[in-house]
Amino acid sequence: MRYLTVGTARVSRIGLGTWQFGSRDWGYGSSYASQEAHAIVRRALEQGVTLFDTAEIYGFGRSERILGQALGEDRDSAFLATKIFPVLPVAPVVEQRAVASANRLGVRRLDLYQVHQPNPVVRDGTIMRGMRALQRVGLVGEVGVSNYSLNRWRAAETALGHRVLSNQVQYSLASRAPERDLLPFAETTGHVVIAYSPLAQGMLSGQYHRGHRPTNRIRSANPLFLPENLERAGDLIATLREVADAHSATPAQIALAWAIHRPAVVAIPGASSVAQLESNVIAADIDLADGEYQALSAASARFRPVTGPAALPRLIRARFP
Ligand SMILES: NC(=O)c1ccc[n+]([C@@H]2O[C@H](COP(=O)([O-])OP(=O)(O)OC[C@H]3O[C@@H](n4cnc5c(N)ncnc54)[C@H](OP(=O)(O)O)[C@@H]3O)[C@@H](O)[C@H]2O)c1
Repeated sequence: MRYLTVGTARVSRIGLGTWQFGSRDWGYGSSYASQEAHAIVRRALEQGVTLFDTAEIYGFGRSERILGQALGEDRDSAFLATKIFPVLPVAPVVEQRAVASANRLGVRRLDLYQVHQPNPVVRDGTIMRGMRALQRVGLVGEVGVSNYSLNRWRAAETALGHRVLSNQVQYSLASRAPERDLLPFAETTGHVVIAYSPLAQGMLSGQYHRGHRPTNRIRSANPLFLPENLERAGDLIATLREVADAHSATPAQIALAWAIHRPAVVAIPGASSVAQLESNVIAADIDLADGEYQALSAASARFRPVTGPAALPRLIRARFP
């Protein structure tokens, strides 16, 4: 495992995303929540993972509970990141919700407390007042944001009065917008970009194609899994396979190695099995040669999926063929 040092914390370059844990929408079933999730967390700890990401909204608290129970006595050796869903982000509510998350996780301190989405109406001064109070009493270590533009990330930092450590955003070979401004900002100022959906929800594993598409609610609403887009991704998947063969690795591992190639990025892939977790952890130690990184980036630039309004009728047709 490789680490990024953040203040006094060592954050693993590959972490573990736990949206899957509490969520019925991923469709992994009850034995996943009661057994496999626990085993995934235990194995992650053994493999040197310190970054665990959850949110109060995942399974309406179930993900936090499952994660806290699975970490058990090892809670303090993890770098625990959770998120507040900012529906009513006034300071007293922020404080009360942080306490509730800490209780579900069974910890006295949230290492990273993130604002899940920018509130479209309320500016960040309000929520950051609550965050400041939480940091003052030691319940929160670092403050982070998620799905923020660069301007709003900076405004949040001004409102907090000091570092807003990280911005958790979608970043993968299928989604590269953060390269425009978030990555250069993080790299030059000591901030961190936390890459979510770094495997494009499994699309970059190469196991899905027109005749084998995932059926759960999350991915049937994701345009990347439209038959047409899976076909358009053929060239990118072929390039992933080519680089993977050269490293005796899998396309998923190469996709993760690509995502954390830039120095300020850590990635938090989810996992549906212990085997996937083990495979993902290994990706932290894969060094891509410059030529490989460029070839993957070029294949990714050629991948033009149907997205936005054009994807909507296709999603409906694919759901009800
Ligand atoms: N802040 C936000 O708004 C936000 C949004 C989304 C996610 N997140 C966070 O980011 C985490 C990860 O994102 P995500 O779950 O959306 O997408 P992801 O990590 O790109 O994809 C996870 C899925 O990929 C498949 N997979 C994982 N490892 C694999 C491997 N080694 N080989 C083949 N397939 C593999 C699994 O699905 P199958 O085995 O079923 O194919 C798994 O459920 C979440 O758990 C959550 O913590 C945050």
